[in-house]
Order: sequence, then C-alpha cells, then structure tokens
Amino acid sequence: MELTGKRIALGITGGIAAYKSAELVRLLIKQGASVQVAMTEAATHFVTPTTFQALSGKRVYADTWDSTIDNSMAHINFSREADVLIVAPASANFLAKIANGIADNLLTTLTLARNCPLLVAPAMNLQMWANPATQRNLSTLRADGVSVLGPASGEQACGEIGAGRMLEAEEILADVISFFQPKLLAGKKLLLTAGPTFEAIDPVRGITNLSSGKMGFALARAAQEAGADVTLICGPVCQPTPRFVTRIDVVSALEMHAAVMQHIKAQDVFIGVAAVADYRPKHLAEHKLKKNDGANVPSIEGLQFVLNPDILAEVAALPAPPLCVGFAAESHNLAEYAQKKRAAKKIPLIVGNLIQDGFGGDNNRLILFDALGQHPLTPAPKLELSRQLIAHIAHLLETC
Ligand code: PMT
Repeated sequence: MELTGKRIALGITGGIAAYKSAELVRLLIKQGASVQVAMTEAATHFVTPTTFQALSGKRVYADTWDSTIDNSMAHINFSREADVLIVAPASANFLAKIANGIADNLLTTLTLARNCPLLVAPAMNLQMWANPATQRNLSTLRADGVSVLGPASGEQACGEIGAGRMLEAEEILADVISFFQPKLLAGKKLLLTAGPTFEAIDPVRGITNLSSGKMGFALARAAQEAGADVTLICGPVCQPTPRFVTRIDVVSALEMHAAVMQHIKAQDVFIGVAAVADYRPKHLAEHKLKKNDGANVPSIEGLQFVLNPDILAEVAALPAPPLCVGFAAESHNLAEYAQKKRAAKKIPLIVGNLIQDGFGGDNNRLILFDALGQHPLTPAPKLELSRQLIAHIAHLLETC
C-alpha cells in the first residue's frame, strides 16, 4: 500500500478520458488513499457522479450552488483536507482557465482556492494540444509549480493519431506515488546494471543465471522517484521499464561492459545489481551443436572459458569514479564474502543478500556492508528496500 493515509482530491473535467478516472479512483483507494471527487458539469455527461460516489465511498461535488453542502464553502473546504489535488482528465478549457486564474465553476473555483499541490493529466485532441494557446497555458502552469502528467501519444477518440491522450490510470498512479517520494537525488545522474547476462555457446544455447531483474528495476524506479536521471543497463529480462528511466538492453557481459563504459561519464552514482557471468565460453560455435545420437556427450570440463571484464571494479578504478555500490549474492558466509568483494573491488558499499532471498522473488533481505561493518535492513518488498538504499546512497553522496 503505497498511499496509506494520503488524502487525494480528484477533479474530473469533460472529456471521453473521464472513464479512465473511474479506474484511477479504484487504484488510488487500493493503495490506501482516500479520494474525494469533484466534477465539472461537462464531466457528468461522460460518467455519472454516482459511479464516482460508489467507487470513492464519498459524496461527489459537482454543483457550486448545492445547498446541501455545509456552510456553502465546498470550494474552500475541498482542498484544505487534501494532500494533493489531481485533475484527470484536464481539458484544454480547464487548463486555460486555471492558467489565467479564472474560477467560473466549482472545480475551477476550488482549484484556485486550493492550498495543496496540483497535478494535471491533460486529455484533448492533438490539434488542441499543439495549439500555441494551450502550450502557452501549460508553460504558465509549469512556472506556477503545477505538475503536468503526460499526455501520451497514440490513437485518439476522434480517430486521429498523435499527442493528447490522457495517461492510463496505472501511469497516473505511478506518477502520484512518485510525487510523494522525497527528492533525495534531485539533479543527480545514476547508472545501474540489472538482470543476468547470457554467454553464448552456440547460436541458440548459452550460460546464464536466475536473476529476474526485479531488484535492479526496483532500484531504478526508486532512484527515479527520488529525482535522479536514471539509466538502466539490463541483461535479458521480462520486466516493464519504470517510468522516465532510460533502458538499454544487452545480452552478454561484454555488451554490458561496453554499454556501461559508454555511459559512465558524468554519472554521480553507479550501482552493479546485475549478476554478471564471471566467465564466457572461449569459442562460440558457428552452427548449432549436434546431438550426434548421444555418442559424444558434451562435458562442462570440455568447454574452455575466458574471464569477463569486472565492470564494477573497472568503474571504481576510473580516475574520478562515481560513488560505486556493488551487490553480492551468496549461498553462505555472506558477511565474509561480501566484505571480501567490497575490498577487492575497492568500493565503499556492497549490498549482501542470500541467493534464496534475492533471486527471482518480490521480497528480499538485504545487509549493507561498509567500512564500519554490517547494517541489516528489515526484510521487505524489493521496492521498499530500494527506497531505503537510495536514502542511504543520498546520505553517502552528501557526506563523501
Ligand atoms: O534480479 P533478481 O531476481 O531480483 O535478483 C537480484 C540479485 C540476487 C541478482 C541481486 O540482488 C544481486 O545480488 N546481484 C549481484 C549478484 C552477484 O553475486 O554478483 P557477483 O558476486 O558476481 O558480483 C559482485 C558485484 O560485482 C556485483 O555488483 C556485480 O554486478 C559486479 N560484477 C560482477 C562480475 C563482473 N564481471 N562485473 C561486475 O560488475
């Protein structure tokens, strides 16, 4: 539950994307938030207040002159009790009014009267979006500190294709969760590796490991939420890319090494989460190896290996290295092996996990090892642990 205790005011303006807001209310509540909805009169032509009342469990405000509202001060009270006001969908008309301080209906009035941050998720036809007046209004809103979520590009209700679609409910949810995270890495650049590598033996076979990429992707998301400019270099995994993270897909350790070296310049932090193969087969068979009726059963001893470059150690040995953080997954003797790796790679911090805790699952058990010793974190979901690790890294950046 990422939004436990958060009070969210949700404004809905007239647009076909209003149907997505019903799902947004459901997702916000599922994450522990309470949601109070206000709609413009136009919005009620697309989805009824009854829908939002049923989903939010609260009465929906839609009429400035509603005499049943206590002291007739809905426009003042509404945002006083909210941690954030989200307007989704936000029409071109609404954005124009808010950019110019116009308050001519309940939603524009309570937006003007708010004392909490405002997030808007625009939704409109692509020509309306591209219109200089709309863009001018958005510049004004951004300068006023309003966060603009999206819009997305794609097929529109009118059949045209282009920018102006409202973000999907899941994307708005991710942006709202991110909004509440402390911006501990604002202005910092962070590069990290994740997932396994795949070292080919022949055109279809290879040596790899069970890393799913979940730990590295969670860290990438946590770093981005903390305000960092994040580049994620990952081996073959099936994880969705966290929003606003630049993802570079590679296959082998040599490719990962090349990608890291290409992007390492000007990074403030480098984190090696990937389970990189230490060795690769010396020879890559040109054609698929044949079974040969089981006559010559291949043996791993028969396969010759060469050492892969140690990416983390190489980055740490650069003349002006970023803050380097490693990971160590061990089946036993975690403290001893992790500290040995930290010393060998000459890095200030290594994060240890047992293979049975770390590989594949959504949760993990981490211990931080530094020059002072070991600091265990309470077992938790990988995203929660990532946020703690990012806070630790931000502290190291400040104190180094
Ligand atoms: O992806 P998941 O399923 O979520 O699993 C996460 C994880 C268990 C893979 C992750 O938490 C983890 O522990 N990753 C490191 C795995 C490991 O034991 O790596 P290592 O001991 O081979 O390497 C130590 C450090 O050096 C790591 O930071 C690694 O990225 C780096 N390294 C290693 C070899 C190499 N050639 N280049 C490197 O940069």
